Amino acid sequence: MPTDPRALRGDAPLLDAWLRFQEDGPTPFTIPGHKQRHDLVGDVVAGDVPLYAGLDTMKLSRGVLVDAEARAARLWGAEFCRFSVGGATHANQALALAIGSEGDRVVVSRTLHRSMLLGLVLAGLTPVWVRPEVDSATGLPLGVAPGAVARALQDHADARAVLVGDPSYVGTVGDVAGLAEAAHAHDVPLVVDAAWAAHFGFHPGLPPHALQAGADAMVVSAHKALPAWSQAALVLARTERIDAARLDAGVEATATTSPAGAILASIDAVRALLERDAGALLAAAMAATRHAHERLAAVDGLLVLDGPHVDPLKLTLVLNGTGAHGLAVEQDLLAVGIPVEAAEQDLLVAVVSLADTEATLAALADALVGSIERRRGEPRPIVGAGVYGVDPVTVLAPREAFFAAAESVPTVDTVGRVSAELVAPYPPGIPVLAPGEEITDDALDALRQAQQAGVRIAYAADPTLETLRVVR
Ligand SMILES: Cc1ncc(COP(=O)(O)O)c(C=O)c1O
Repeated sequence: MPTDPRALRGDAPLLDAWLRFQEDGPTPFTIPGHKQRHDLVGDVVAGDVPLYAGLDTMKLSRGVLVDAEARAARLWGAEFCRFSVGGATHANQALALAIGSEGDRVVVSRTLHRSMLLGLVLAGLTPVWVRPEVDSATGLPLGVAPGAVARALQDHADARAVLVGDPSYVGTVGDVAGLAEAAHAHDVPLVVDAAWAAHFGFHPGLPPHALQAGADAMVVSAHKALPAWSQAALVLARTERIDAARLDAGVEATATTSPAGAILASIDAVRALLERDAGALLAAAMAATRHAHERLAAVDGLLVLDGPHVDPLKLTLVLNGTGAHGLAVEQDLLAVGIPVEAAEQDLLVAVVSLADTEATLAALADALVGSIERRRGEPRPIVGAGVYGVDPVTVLAPREAFFAAAESVPTVDTVGRVSAELVAPYPPGIPVLAPGEEITDDALDALRQAQQAGVRIAYAADPTLETLRVVR
């Protein structure tokens, strides 16, 4: 269902400003240094218009960003909205800076993305971990149970906030309303990293978004489920339990002073698009995904995550019953130009967005069915991703460990030592080891298992895992 983007400009001040800049063709004596010339490094800089002296004047006298953010706040039912050109990573870190002060405890889902964990380092917060339920059939995470949060808050009455990631990386959706109730019973805010769920709340076939479910703040990535530029994200909040000035200061403290106007304008454009066409666009994307889902679910031995607690725009495949190896299937897909978000031995995750169509999803389903049939083998027991089962032992606050004197030690000698680094298989980017945690046999097993399943071990100083950085 193609739409004419120019028709959106009347309701999208940043998009309008971006288009106007192209139409006017000024001769800027400001940054960026490419000065809109495409004959020096080519079209790689095409469309790069700054916010300052681009979408707006250098003095921001037109107020187009504030206007666009206010429109997004209205659409999502928030009292606060800021756009980010630093991804959900930046938005998460701004929230970490807003919800407590150095030394404060916060209840945090262990399956949070590394960006929020590093937010804890920046803000000096100490985590009280809660773990999601794990589905024993697939080894994949479900939501964090509200009861687990209620117990954590009871045991740590001084906790200042609850932070969870929902939906999960594989598309499972938790009980956000229950979590909000548990947090509010202790009068603390619920903050939800909903990076994957920018489309939630805009179609009756989708779950409500986190603010609709009662959360106090949420982060959404506009470049994941919605057709925005890479790095486009929003942080949205209600201000009863979140200090708007503090959150704003957190956004500014961690933001670039030269935001890319094309990214900002694309956030504004997707907001206007959602406002105008969300129902029709989402219905089409969900129907196309459902058709691909039905074809894949008919493949013998293949499990496709499904049900009322799964994002209808995610295709998460569990392969062990087919005997096909996920990395071999990924290679087949790459050979025909179809990269997927995540691939490991037993798991494939394909991200669907509003930009997908019956044709793209049919091509994906064709390639998957053909590859799985060619690669079929003996069914094998599932290798559940160890990252979801790690039970961390926190010895030092993340910030203390991050800045502590550290040394590299052969990994075989590290059990019982305190990790100085964050180590996460990527995707999904969920830490197995975080700064300040005791290194256990279980954590090392989870890392080795991920490595053997073909997952990249990210952020470790030594990605081969021969050595680890530990607190001296
Ligand atoms: C749950 C979650 N939060 C945050 C992020 C970071 O998003 P971004 O890459 O937009 O910074 C990711 C990235 O995949 C994620 O999965």
